[in-house]
Amino acid sequence: MEVSLLGRTALITGGSSGTGLAMAREFVRSGASVAIVARGQENLDKAKAELLKLAAGHVKSAKVVAFSCDVGVAAQRAATYAKVREALGPIDILCNNAGESRSGGTFENIPEENWRLDLETKTVAHMHFARLCWDDMKARKRGVILNTGAISAKAGRPAAMPTSVARAGVMALTKGLAFDGGPHNIRANALLIGSLETGQTVRHYPNEAERKAALAKTGEHIPLGRVGTPEEFANLATFLASDKASYITGCAINVDGGSCPVV
Ligand SMILES: NC(=O)c1ccc[n+]([C@@H]2O[C@H](COP(=O)([O-])OP(=O)(O)OC[C@H]3O[C@@H](n4cnc5c(N)ncnc54)[C@H](OP(=O)(O)O)[C@@H]3O)[C@@H](O)[C@H]2O)c1
Repeated sequence: MEVSLLGRTALITGGSSGTGLAMAREFVRSGASVAIVARGQENLDKAKAELLKLAAGHVKSAKVVAFSCDVGVAAQRAATYAKVREALGPIDILCNNAGESRSGGTFENIPEENWRLDLETKTVAHMHFARLCWDDMKARKRGVILNTGAISAKAGRPAAMPTSVARAGVMALTKGLAFDGGPHNIRANALLIGSLETGQTVRHYPNEAERKAALAKTGEHIPLGRVGTPEEFANLATFLASDKASYITGCAINVDGGSCPVV
């Protein structure tokens, strides 16, 4: 099966690393123009240079743009979306993917700020970017919204309450967008991660030997016996973004090697 995104435009939040960058690479290989958004300028510049090189070797007409933005700040979301819209035109594929893990703890020990940050970054931002892209998608009768989440949305786990609640909200949002978007050929799906080796992992375990040991230990609790890769995530995302997935909407698909206790 050949998956093409030729001529499509994509906005990927958290596109400078991990799953976001893996999606950007695969989208560019498939012919799309992409806008990547994240806070850190250095990683954005690096990712943009790599993606431009990739585009030059594949589809020369594909554009790559990068903008710095904290998706947890409403004014930055709106201003960044305006720049992306100006650079690429209407967005066909929105990937709400930015986020980071925060220290957990028991309910009484979780700082209130963690609740606010997780809800704003991992739920409200998804809603807001979808709203910003919505009118164009509706007018053009085509749109795909891919919401990155976590399997804790389906099965909450200890010490991860704010992120689980935020991710559960994204699942409900995804379903709502699928209902409201369906009549306008706007599809919305969520991709729920278990454990993937990304920038997040490198930040938690900067030492390579320690990282490998920790990943191997995590893998022991995963039915497929290992932590996944951002590329495995991006393969599903690229399929869902394409017309090959034209009848798939309103789903929350686990990308977790079988870890989630819930289907
Ligand atoms: N890896 C896992 O096992 C795992 C598990 C469950 C959920 N997730 C989720 O998967 C998504 C992708 O993360 P990843 O694993 O690929 O980690 P990653 O390699 O650290 O990538 C995260 C990306 O999001 C950006 N980002 C973080 N906070 C942001 C903010 N407030 N505004 C704008 N950009 C922001 C980061 O860039 P800057 O830091 O420069 O802004 C980076 O580009 C996240 O939502 C994460 O929570 C991952």
